[in-house]
Order: sequence, then C-alpha cells, then structure tokens
Amino acid sequence: MDEQYTEITRLAGGLAHEIKNPLSTIRLNIELLSEDLEQIDSPQSRRAQQRIKVVQNECRRLESLLDDFLRFTKADNPELLPGNVNNEIQDIIEFFRLKAKESEIEVIAYLASDLPSVLIDRGLFHQAMINLLLNALQAMPNGGQLMISTRAGGNEIVIDLIDTGMGMDEKTLANLYNAFYSTKKGGSGLGLATTQKIIKAHGGTISVQSELNCGTKFTITIPSLPRLAEK
Ligand SMILES: Nc1ncnc2c1ncn2[C@@H]1O[C@H](COP(=O)(O)OP(=O)(O)OP(=O)(O)O)[C@@H](O)[C@H]1O
Ligand SMILES: [Mg+2]
Repeated sequence: MDEQYTEITRLAGGLAHEIKNPLSTIRLNIELLSEDLEQIDSPQSRRAQQRIKVVQNECRRLESLLDDFLRFTKADNPELLPGNVNNEIQDIIEFFRLKAKESEIEVIAYLASDLPSVLIDRGLFHQAMINLLLNALQAMPNGGQLMISTRAGGNEIVIDLIDTGMGMDEKTLANLYNAFYSTKKGGSGLGLATTQKIIKAHGGTISVQSELNCGTKFTITIPSLPRLAEK
C-alpha cells in the first residue's frame, strides 16, 4: 500500500511538473496577445481583452495550484540537520510581521530559552509553519492575536500556535488534513495536508483544538536530540 502510494505521488508530481511548462507558454503568449490588442481601439478588441483577463487569471490559479501540489508531493523527503526551532520561528515571525501588522494581528512569542536542538529541514519547516500562520491570519479577518510558544517536553520539543479567530465546526475538524479540503473561496486545501506530511516526516505529531467563534490551537511536537553531556 505504502509503495503504491509513493508511486502514485511520484507519477502525480511528474504530471504536475509536465503541465507547468506548457501552461507558462500559454500564459506568456496570452500576455503577448493582450499587448498586441492594446494597439487596437475597438469594441471587439475591448471584449477580447476581457476574455484574455479571464484566461490569465485561470492560468495563474492553475500555476499556483500546481506549485502547491508539487510542494505537497515533496513534503515527505526532508534533509534533516541539527537545528534550533526557536531560531527558525524568529525568522518566520520576522518574515510575517508586516503581513500581520497590515491585518491588525498582534503576534506574541514565548520561546523557551533552554530548548533542545532537533533534526530539521529548515525549508520544509518554514513551509509547515507559514501554512499554519497564513491559516490563522485568514481566520482573523478583523484582526486578533496570534501566540506562538515553544517548550521542552520529555523527549521532544512542543510548539503551540493559538489564534483568536473564527474557529472550526465539526465537519472542518474532521477533514482539515485531507488534501483539497477547503472552506475558502480559491483555497487549494493543500496547506494543512502539506504541513502534516512535513511534521510526520520529522518524526513529529500535529494536533488541533478549536472552538467556533473563539479560536484555534495547533500543537506540534518534534523529537529532540539528546543533550550533550554537561561538562
Ligand atoms: N486557524 C484556523 N482557523 C480556522 N479554520 C482553519 C484554521 N486552519 C485551517 N482551518 C480550516 O481548515 C481548512 C483547510 O486548511 P488548509 O490550509 O489545508 O487549506 P486552505 O487554507 O483552505 O487552502 P490553502 O491550500 O490555500 O492553504 C481551511 O479551509 C479552514 O476551513
Ligand atoms: Mg491554508
């Protein structure tokens, strides 16, 4: 079963990659066509421009879906190196700060000072966290608070991510990790499926608690590296 799944994911990834090239050729040519039409001022040309816009938007949507899908297929192949999650979270928050400010979201971080190191693929870990932060942001359209904390558990490190957003109903909670499940207009529904795959590939776990109209808490654990013997 596992082998079949891997083979199907590989094939689907290959197919997505093959579709991307002709799709970008289509989009580029449509852009050139649009530039040519700009030279002609007539009702027909204006109508044609409107249709071109629809095609361009659909091309962009497909390209972004294929990118999300390719990221999903690559999510379980991490290159693990020793690292500290606190440093990564600080980078991610820095990257996110402006976006959060624009959405009137206060980001609060409590990062444990004695956090043990873990084996981590920085790029994939960033992706996993960004998916969670984006979801939190989208769940707070009128602003709110986003708290990120880290702590050392027994043989693991624990990351909590709490938002004061709209929360989830039972149906969403039962489906949120399913690829292509989305309640958002234009959402691909690949964000959390990818995040879960990445965390599992780090030997970790992800769980969620949510209350409708109150907020959501995601908890991630990642096995920690044994501390070096103290001198
Ligand atoms: N923090 C959150 N608060 C409320 N609902 C959430 C939260 N995170 C996820 N969800 C729900 O889970 C669904 C699946 O999330 P997921 O990130 O996989 O897909 P998406 O955000 O809809 O699309 P995208 O692929 O663009 O991320 C969302 O559509 C939303 O209904
Ligand atoms: Mg998402």
